[in-house]
Amino acid sequence: MKKFTTVDDINDLDELILTAKKIKSDPFGSPELGKNKVLGLLFFNPSLRTRLSTQKASLNLGMDCIVMNLNTEGWSLEFEDRTVMDGNKAEHIKEAAQVISQYCDIVGVRSFPTLTDKEKDEAEQVINSFVKYSSIPVISLEGATEHPLQAVADALTIQEYKTKRKPKVVLTWAPHPKALPHAVPNSFAKIMKLSKYDLVIAHPKGYELNPEITKGTTITDNQDEAFKNADFIYAKNWSSYNDYGKILSNDTNWTITKEKMALTNNAKFMHCLPVRRNMIVSDEVLDSEDSIVIPQANNRTFAVQAILTKILENGK
Ligand code: CP
Repeated sequence: MKKFTTVDDINDLDELILTAKKIKSDPFGSPELGKNKVLGLLFFNPSLRTRLSTQKASLNLGMDCIVMNLNTEGWSLEFEDRTVMDGNKAEHIKEAAQVISQYCDIVGVRSFPTLTDKEKDEAEQVINSFVKYSSIPVISLEGATEHPLQAVADALTIQEYKTKRKPKVVLTWAPHPKALPHAVPNSFAKIMKLSKYDLVIAHPKGYELNPEITKGTTITDNQDEAFKNADFIYAKNWSSYNDYGKILSNDTNWTITKEKMALTNNAKFMHCLPVRRNMIVSDEVLDSEDSIVIPQANNRTFAVQAILTKILENGK
């Protein structure tokens, strides 16, 4: 594996999940793989899970990890070509990426979408500029349109909890006071399609995701109907894709409650976290035995350790 910025970079999902499971059973099994190597993590946006799980995975592999909050600690970066840099941008990505490539062996980048400039967001300008100008492998710590590390952890979690070969998995929109990106639902939909599970996406009218990604998936605006016989409920808010970045609804009838979960086949409740209690999901559901959000977050370490392992093995 030379880079990991999208679920599309996964060659063989079954093999990747197997690797993550093996790592989980023996996280310190390859202490030499990352010896004398440096992982650089660059954050343009906040993080808890991605930052700490990636640092932990790096330590498990014997790899040093350096972290920089580029938005607050670094020079403001210019990503446009052929610009006269007479504004507040002090450094061009061309130099920054090449310099970072001399200090690190792998670089991870988190850069959320603008949610105002669809074209720029869809081009993944920040992460793809790092890919273009770095001479080292780049991993996405969540980009404008995808969160592939989250998706691998989600697939690993479902693999661990499923009781049938092809579970029914429902990705459902839920209300939130702020406009949120499409990265998590996009990557989740992609990896569920790769897993060949029975995926249903439920959302109010107007919240259709990118049709290129959801093509071939059952989509409904009837959440109750979707929940029937579901084995996994994956809740997430996202803003409108067609009316780009807009909040069209805050309908709390879409909040995941005990009554909604009672419609399912004793489904497990999942969310990538952070989650807004009693907006996305009720306390009762989140605190219930059917909620697997904490083991899901734990799997972030083994998912990213599997990806780092693939990249390090490729570079040997
Ligand atoms: N799920 C996730 O990516 O969490 P953080 O934003 O805290 O990293």
